[in-house]
Amino acid sequence: MSSPSPAVSPDTSDAPGAARKPGSPPPGTESTLVPDPFGGPPTGTVRSFHPRRGRLSPQQQDAIARLWPTHGLRVDGTPLDPAALFGNGKPVVLEIGFGMGEATAAMAAAEPDVNILATDIHTPGIGNLLHLVESRGLDNVRLAEGDAVVLLTDMLAAGSLAGIRVYFPDPWPKSRHHKRRLIRPGFAALAASRLAPGGTLHCATDWAPYAAWMLEVLSAEPALANTAPDGGYTPRPGWRPQTRFERQGLAKGHEVADLVFRRI
Ligand SMILES: C[S@@+](CC[C@H](N)C(=O)[O-])C[C@H]1O[C@@H](n2cnc3c(N)ncnc32)[C@H](O)[C@@H]1O
Repeated sequence: MSSPSPAVSPDTSDAPGAARKPGSPPPGTESTLVPDPFGGPPTGTVRSFHPRRGRLSPQQQDAIARLWPTHGLRVDGTPLDPAALFGNGKPVVLEIGFGMGEATAAMAAAEPDVNILATDIHTPGIGNLLHLVESRGLDNVRLAEGDAVVLLTDMLAAGSLAGIRVYFPDPWPKSRHHKRRLIRPGFAALAASRLAPGGTLHCATDWAPYAAWMLEVLSAEPALANTAPDGGYTPRPGWRPQTRFERQGLAKGHEVADLVFRRI
């Protein structure tokens, strides 16, 4: 899912006195350019996505204008207090790359006792998920606009998450782009560190080479254990809704692999 990058200006949201969440500026109004936490150049040139603003429908625009101040936060590096964010102490699951958010909304409706912190950088998707949150009366979803790696590295405390879900991340199929894949050894260690013991990292992909890569990378992380008895893939759990990208992959004849690893 890549698209041409619009021009972006340096992120100044960390400046003293800058607007903070909640009520930080709505998506599409500022850059989220940040240093690369993977250890790359400080301008953050190796990321798993191109900054994407996209065209907003009137409904998405309206949802952002009205709901962002109460349901959204910018990924600006400020440590987060999940209990304050959600207004309760229920377990928090981070979903990375929710796309248009249909599956996120379905999971939130099915799991009222779980708080879902959903992150993406796709502005129309943010508007769409905010609309779904309101129209379905969901009070257990908050949205974070920006790089999930920064969110994990700088904003979420060690052991603070009950789960991390990464469904159909961009496969970056060309070998020269593999370095952009979200799932890589540094990410596996980072994700494991943010999970509470027993928490799960659940990934799914329809791109067979990426599935094999994920299995290799996650299996090599000492803080994670594969829940599949044979050490391979897991059948899609019945509670995981089919996602938009999954349907597109299935329509092309791709096979889907789920991987569920538990924090030791
Ligand atoms: C291929 S789409 C899949 C969307 C959705 N999960 C689905 O299955 O329909 C991948 C999404 O991940 C988002 N993404 C990629 N890297 C990200 C990152 N580092 N932080 C947050 N979102 C990211 C992209 O913007 C995109 O919306």
